[in-house]
Amino acid sequence: MDDPPLLIRPYQDKDLPQLREITVASFGSVALEQMLELKFGLWNERDWKVRKASHIDEDVSQCPEGCFVAERGAEILGYITTRLDRVNARGRIPNVAVVESARGLGLGRRLLQHALDYMRDEGMKLAQIETMASNAIGQHLYPSCGFEEVARQVHYAMKL
Ligand SMILES: CC(C)(COP(=O)(O)OP(=O)(O)OC[C@H]1O[C@@H](n2cnc3c(N)ncnc32)[C@H](O)[C@@H]1OP(=O)(O)O)[C@@H](O)C(=O)NCCC(=O)NCCS
Repeated sequence: MDDPPLLIRPYQDKDLPQLREITVASFGSVALEQMLELKFGLWNERDWKVRKASHIDEDVSQCPEGCFVAERGAEILGYITTRLDRVNARGRIPNVAVVESARGLGLGRRLLQHALDYMRDEGMKLAQIETMASNAIGQHLYPSCGFEEVARQVHYAMKL
């Protein structure tokens, strides 16, 4: 039997636990939160997974209508979040992830295109996304979707 079609649909509240799971499973080696923990150890009894998952809580609470989920049948395979700065007509993509088993098949690209279409429809004139220098996939994928590199940032931290 054929696989059910892959749909990209708006986020619903019931998706949040799965999006948190996908986030924690996906962002390990590419998340600043984990790099901080590797360097400084645990602090405040909240590990990088709790902190990274809370980024998704923030995305869906601040701009739920700008969050989209890729689903095949009942299975969520990925998601993308956006934030809109309407005053400056600028959209940002804070988080995008695809489950490991579905990577390399064009889904990340489809999610990005979906988010960019949403931003255009909402009147945004500029789209921004960031990636870590260690994230080779992001640095390949984003320019191939039309993003241009503008600047590199250095993250510093120290224990207090
Ligand atoms: C980034 C991510 C969402 C991409 O999802 P995906 O479904 O695999 O994306 P696509 O299949 O559309 O595209 C992946 C592209 O990266 C390329 N790629 C894969 N591994 C690569 C590598 N090690 N170095 C460079 N490019 C790589 C693929 O060839 C493909 O490019 P192509 O379409 O030109 O062939 C997914 O890898 C992911 O969830 N990563 C972990 C979380 C993350 O890094 N999120 C982004 C944080 S900025």
